[in-house]
Amino acid sequence: MASQPRQIFILTGAGISAESGLGTFRDRGGLWARFDPMKLATPEAFAEDPDTVLDFYNHRRRGVRKAAPNAAHAALARAEAALAARGGRLFLCTQNVDDLHERAGSAAVVHMHGELLKARCTACGTVSERRADILPDDPCPHCGAAALRPDVVWFGEMPKHLDRIDAALAESDLFVAIGTSGAVYPAAGYVREARALGIRTCELNLEPSDNAGAFDEARYGPASTIVPGYLTELGL
Ligand code: APR
Repeated sequence: MASQPRQIFILTGAGISAESGLGTFRDRGGLWARFDPMKLATPEAFAEDPDTVLDFYNHRRRGVRKAAPNAAHAALARAEAALAARGGRLFLCTQNVDDLHERAGSAAVVHMHGELLKARCTACGTVSERRADILPDDPCPHCGAAALRPDVVWFGEMPKHLDRIDAALAESDLFVAIGTSGAVYPAAGYVREARALGIRTCELNLEPSDNAGAFDEARYGPASTIVPGYLTELGL
């Protein structure tokens, strides 16, 4: 068995939630194969047609509420606790805007693309929990303005928590990407940053991603099978 990692950096993407019934973006029949992201996932689209954008995210939010975490989410939550118990740390960075990691028991989740179950007021900036639909006239719970949007990161906007993510990567001794195509930066660049730092890298995915050649090792198959198996190999 390879030496026990003390800090593991986990990057997850839509593929970890696929078996929970939430669509991915770039697979056959994926979200961006059916909808134009430039018309639904940009600040310009929201400015031009807020009702259509709000409706698109309301539909996705309802899907998240109906979904349940799968064995991959649960295995990561167990691994987080097991690593902490031996004085290590599992840093969980997700590109996903669902709450399945939290509902599986992960205590610390960094959502670099924001969270569907949160709303942000475009007037005062307040971010609030939001499980219900966001309607155009819904008032901000803080300032009362009818100016709410989903607190998700759209194309052309800056991802969140980048300093925390870079700092955690620099302290890690293993980088694992799970269920991501490696198509969107900065997340897609993390495997190369890890390699440049001398960090061991592993890809866990249904099939080789765009970044497959950059990883030291890989396991391919459905996340609900390969993620628990891989963490067991690590003694977690
Ligand atoms: N188990 C493991 N991997 C899977 C599964 C599964 N059951 N099903 C699909 N996958 C893999 C696919 O092979 C693909 O490589 O998950 C990956 C999903 O890739 P994308 O759909 O591109 O999703 P992601 O990488 O998370 O996209 C990144 O793009 O549009 C933006 O903000 C959006 O966060 C998203 C970002």
